[in-house]
Amino acid sequence: MRVRKAVIPVAGLGTRFLPYTKAIPKEMLPIIDLPAIHFIVQEAIDSGIESILFITSKEKYSIEDYFDRNFYLEYFLNKNKNYAALNELKRIPENVNIFSVRQKEAMGLGHAILHAADFIGAEPFAVFLPDDLIFSKVPVMKKMIEIYGKLGRGVVAVEKVEKAKISSYGIIKPKPAGSRIYDILDMAEKPALKDAFSNLGIVGRYVLPSKIFDYIRETKAGAKGEIQLTDALKAMMRNEGLCAHEFEGVRCDTGDKFEYILAILKYASMQKGLKQKLKKAIKKIF
Ligand code: G1P
Repeated sequence: MRVRKAVIPVAGLGTRFLPYTKAIPKEMLPIIDLPAIHFIVQEAIDSGIESILFITSKEKYSIEDYFDRNFYLEYFLNKNKNYAALNELKRIPENVNIFSVRQKEAMGLGHAILHAADFIGAEPFAVFLPDDLIFSKVPVMKKMIEIYGKLGRGVVAVEKVEKAKISSYGIIKPKPAGSRIYDILDMAEKPALKDAFSNLGIVGRYVLPSKIFDYIRETKAGAKGEIQLTDALKAMMRNEGLCAHEFEGVRCDTGDKFEYILAILKYASMQKGLKQKLKKAIKKIF
């Protein structure tokens, strides 16, 4: 079955970016002239996704507003013949259906994803965690959907993470199963370094069969007292198998201040003629 739907949980409070995130969702942090969530939605569309469900919470309406049209603004720009500005608005993708549902309590990623059960029905689906921006030649999700099509098992994205950060990730026990593909033999959410199976950490991209919802329903609160997606994945792995794709690309965790700056620099370096200018300017600053 084709993967047509995606779920993007955006209910998080963004405490690492307070006070900014007191009034503005972290997903709307600017990567120069685009909000971070724009890149995620674009990756979904470029991977063949047709419908997206945002799992939202209070104060997150600006995300929905961003992907909606603003007739007043368009009318005003048209009236003033400001066609350049109108053109900028056209960068916002419209070729996708956007839905949203509210997560009323922050009870973990597994709990958030469970809100998508009715929307997904019996289809396989994609999950994007909006903090993880990935700059790559081929959209990472596109590649993962291909792998899902070939192997017929859930796929999670992984990358090698530094020792110091192992306890911030879901960590897998890998068995090589092809080029940049692993069978997952075991996994743990945010283990202590000494208990980690490997240095391969789960990054925020998943392709999952709808069966995952049954596993989430059976999952008890785990790390941080929350219903963890990783625990449900582990149960599913045992019965149905699960694999990992070590993607190619530069991934920035925009929830981290340092990596957020890197995301801006990476995006800036992709703009025509800006790379050399940037390099020079950075040397000057430091
Ligand atoms: C979540 C997942 C974790 C994964 C991480 C990737 O954790 O639970 O397994 O490695 O995203 O960004 P969070 O960062 O939401 O605590």
